Amino acid sequence: MSRSAHPAGPRHADVLPEGHYSAPPADLNTLDRKVWAQTVGRNEDGVVTVGGVDVKALAEEHGTPAYIVDEADFRARARAWRTAFGHDADVFYAGKAFLSRAVVRWLHDEGLNLDVCSGGELATALSAGMPADRIAFHGNNKSEQEITRAVESGVGRIVLDSFQEIVRVAHIAQSLGKRQRVQIRITVGVEAHTHEFIATAHEDQKFGIPLAGGQAAEAVRRALKLDGLELIGIHSHIGSQIFDMSGFEVAAHRVVGLLKDIRDEHGVELPEIDLGGGLGIAYTSADDPREPHEIAKALTEIVSRECEAARLRTPRISVEPGRAIVGPTAFTLYEVGTIKPLDGLRTYVSVDGGMSDNIRTALYDAEYSVALVSRTSDAEPMLARVVGKHCESGDIVVKDAFLPADLAPGDLIAVPATGAYCRSMASNYNHVLRPPVVAVHDGESRVIVRRETEEDLLRLDVG
Ligand code: LLP
Repeated sequence: MSRSAHPAGPRHADVLPEGHYSAPPADLNTLDRKVWAQTVGRNEDGVVTVGGVDVKALAEEHGTPAYIVDEADFRARARAWRTAFGHDADVFYAGKAFLSRAVVRWLHDEGLNLDVCSGGELATALSAGMPADRIAFHGNNKSEQEITRAVESGVGRIVLDSFQEIVRVAHIAQSLGKRQRVQIRITVGVEAHTHEFIATAHEDQKFGIPLAGGQAAEAVRRALKLDGLELIGIHSHIGSQIFDMSGFEVAAHRVVGLLKDIRDEHGVELPEIDLGGGLGIAYTSADDPREPHEIAKALTEIVSRECEAARLRTPRISVEPGRAIVGPTAFTLYEVGTIKPLDGLRTYVSVDGGMSDNIRTALYDAEYSVALVSRTSDAEPMLARVVGKHCESGDIVVKDAFLPADLAPGDLIAVPATGAYCRSMASNYNHVLRPPVVAVHDGESRVIVRRETEEDLLRLDVG
């Protein structure tokens, strides 16, 4: 179908969605700096480039769909967090957002530590040369095998998540003749303003040990008694994709309160606190995330203030940003396939991926942006829904977006801010093959996680 012959679809005025897409942006060709990786721009032909490579070349060389990561941006964001927190604090990148061996090396180069939450993440980190003492091991149901591997390899800390785990880790460490550095994860009773599935510090959920009812204090009592454990601090993580700092303030206040109670009861001042991750990023122009230096300032000030009031030595702070580092550094590059205008509703634009490479829209009602990247267009805006190729109607990548009305099969579109929790939550649903992750830097692209193949799929199918 020729571009000009393609029907423009419904007039958007009748069906405008609520929220940030209540009106089309002034110019669909403009890329909002807030949601795109730092080196993204358009060349003189109107083709989007990243890291000095244009997306048509990327699609040709690596195929679509593909996650494209701006390495310079990743490194810059990692460094910004590191610098913002300085030498008196530690930044643990949360590997669950996205982890690969290249990423581990970038983090190592930039002086960050790493938070892992499974044996698989631990294996990835160790195999890429992250020193074990810079790794924190998390999880609400670590297996004995995982704990053993973590203790044997010498991880810097294990974050204890339950009463049973206190005993289990102590026992394993002791049987290996070791004393394991641990923190206790507590739930401070804060309702973070985010999606229910990604809020983690209210009490009615599976993580941590509640501060309420003296449970956290009891956990500390038990941990301090066990020879296999060296209790170094208290951990709190209140949720994810949070913009409002007040939840962190309350959490810091309550964690310091517990440190004070521990000092009063045991005469011990625990040297560390970890305030977790969870800082939000911009998925659309409507989001206004904070900069790492603002976050660092806010968190360190509140902890110092609270400690001064409690006459405690200020503990060493650590944080665990995942999304805020990797999220904005990548976009997913798709090729447009079928285009279906539905009269009076919107135009459905199908791409060659979908909920298997980005489950966040279906799972959390997440909002994303999208742009035509293989060319510019002066056509009028058309209200579109970007959908995948999976066999269900909830297979939506971008719920509401404006794309140019002359969009045609074969065009490349890209969804920005897909660096976090997209590849790491990708599936093989419908036996769709998971896309590669391609890093671009200084005019060159390099596959860091290759595309899945049918052989990969069939290798596991041993029946
Ligand atoms: N630390 C702990 C203990 C965590 O559980 C998490 C995230 C983080 C740090 C990193 O949080 P971040 O800075 O990336 O927000 N799949 C969901 C997010 C789940 C987050 C789980 N824990 C999503 O796609 O939004």
